[in-house]
Amino acid sequence: MEVIILKDYEQMSQKVAARFKKMILHKPEAVLGLATGGTPRRFYEMLCDFHVKENLDFAKVKVFNLDEYLGLSAEHPASYAYYMQENLFSQVNLHKDQCFIPNGMTNDVAKECQDYEALIKEHGPVDLQVLGIGRDGHIGFNEPVSSLSSRTRIKTLTEQTRQDNAKYFSSSEQIPLHVITMGIATILQAQEIILMASGQEKAQAIAKAVEGPLTAMVPASVLQTHQRAKVIIDESAASQLTNKDYYQWVYENKPNWQKKEFL
Ligand code: GLP
Repeated sequence: MEVIILKDYEQMSQKVAARFKKMILHKPEAVLGLATGGTPRRFYEMLCDFHVKENLDFAKVKVFNLDEYLGLSAEHPASYAYYMQENLFSQVNLHKDQCFIPNGMTNDVAKECQDYEALIKEHGPVDLQVLGIGRDGHIGFNEPVSSLSSRTRIKTLTEQTRQDNAKYFSSSEQIPLHVITMGIATILQAQEIILMASGQEKAQAIAKAVEGPLTAMVPASVLQTHQRAKVIIDESAASQLTNKDYYQWVYENKPNWQKKEFL
């Protein structure tokens, strides 16, 4: 695992956007794994800017989103389908039929999950996956004690996660209890994973994920087992890391060839 600590949210977003841009330039038919939430918003803005100002071409790109609320349609402003439409899909030249998100309105959850796994198998593997992190260490919507071998399935949200996401709903009764999420094993199939986090409220989750034991209690800790996982965070999110200075030292002293490889 590589830990990259940058000054602030803007720099962190720039770093991640630059990596995605490089991936798309290098592999125009790349399969991207995408996340929602407040954290990646700026990153999406930057990708849209690359498209408008530099003609970054998404025509052959495929996209798989991590998760969706059960019971919300793509027209609901708090759904992740709506979020993706607003923040990326409507602003770049991605083909609609190459953007995949679990269907929150499905009548057959088990089939929807199986079909989603089959689609990832058909088009995948995901070349580059971006993740956020919940305050309880969740990735996607894999809440604590999710099986580390899990595949796409239904999950029940914790009250803390529901409250953290309450700001996107007009009342707390509207926040769904259930979601469909890619499983932890599904996420780990990606060739490369970048986890982003910003702000003090994520510091404890980041410390546990990076330096704590590998445990289903902190789903993000599973990234410790991935061969190409990067944790790209701002200084506040890094504030509880014991080995913070060492990660910065490693980053500053990267050999030139390795620097180029990253960007
Ligand atoms: C939700 C999403 C996660 C996201 C998390 C953190 O739970 N399912 O994918 O990482 O929120 O969101 P934020 O970036 O808003 O803190």
